[in-house]
Amino acid sequence: MTPVLNAPPPHAADDWTIPQDWDAYTPAEHALWRRLYQRQLRLLPGRAVPEFLDGLGKLDMADGIPDFRRLSDRLMALTGWQVVAVPGLVPEDVFFAHLANRRFVAGNFLRPPDRIDYLQEPDVFHDVFGHVPLLAHPVFADYMQAYGEGGLRSIRFSALHRLARLYWYTVEFGLIETAEGLRIYGAGIVSSHGESIFALDDPSPNRLGFDLARVLRTEYRIDDYQQTYFVIPSFEHLLGVTLETDFAPLYAELERLPDLAITEILPTDRLFTRGTQAHHRRLAAPAG
Ligand SMILES: [Fe+2]
Repeated sequence: MTPVLNAPPPHAADDWTIPQDWDAYTPAEHALWRRLYQRQLRLLPGRAVPEFLDGLGKLDMADGIPDFRRLSDRLMALTGWQVVAVPGLVPEDVFFAHLANRRFVAGNFLRPPDRIDYLQEPDVFHDVFGHVPLLAHPVFADYMQAYGEGGLRSIRFSALHRLARLYWYTVEFGLIETAEGLRIYGAGIVSSHGESIFALDDPSPNRLGFDLARVLRTEYRIDDYQQTYFVIPSFEHLLGVTLETDFAPLYAELERLPDLAITEILPTDRLFTRGTQAHHRRLAAPAG
């Protein structure tokens, strides 16, 4: 969500959308999509929240990179959402306005075959496989719209960095508690083979109960697996607190409190896992 340009590039519309140019994808790109799709499909049952797998089943995306026009038709019939292509990262106000109008913005390029596990910029597999299945779920679909509306308001309160943390720790890297145990739902996890395992099974990260004000104070990292995940009790809870919270006084209150370091655990946290942080200690250790 970092702005990279101040105005839409010449080939984009005023709302920054561009044609997906679906006909330009090569057979090799469709084959790579199928490979990534099948690899995640083998891994995700029993890991991803059932609502994600239900959405995936309804959207018919297994055969190759989806055509956003056909994908939007199916999604529109389910929850009134569409998928539109944009040229990479767009300014926050543009991003939020699309969400508030039930349009999910997606990159149209696919990662190169020698970089299937390492991505600097979200590609069409992350954006579409990762994000779109839950947009077929009515409650999560409403949450995403509410987030976009909240985002537009947060700009007025100069609180964008706080609201970005909510997106990060829910939409991108959220965990959810189910009767069968913890499950993943964040797009950054479900679209990543390594993090789909790490987020649930590894003893390294903290897993803490979701608390809105607490999440808005918590820093995050963008360069590796997360060191802390937050666990929501349900999508209904997430939507409910987002709609019912009066963010303006909350932002004012948080201005008086320090931010929380990524690995900090508070006495008030509901602790699912106190992580060892061994993974990130290994990364930080000098080589040799
Ligand atoms: Fe994403």
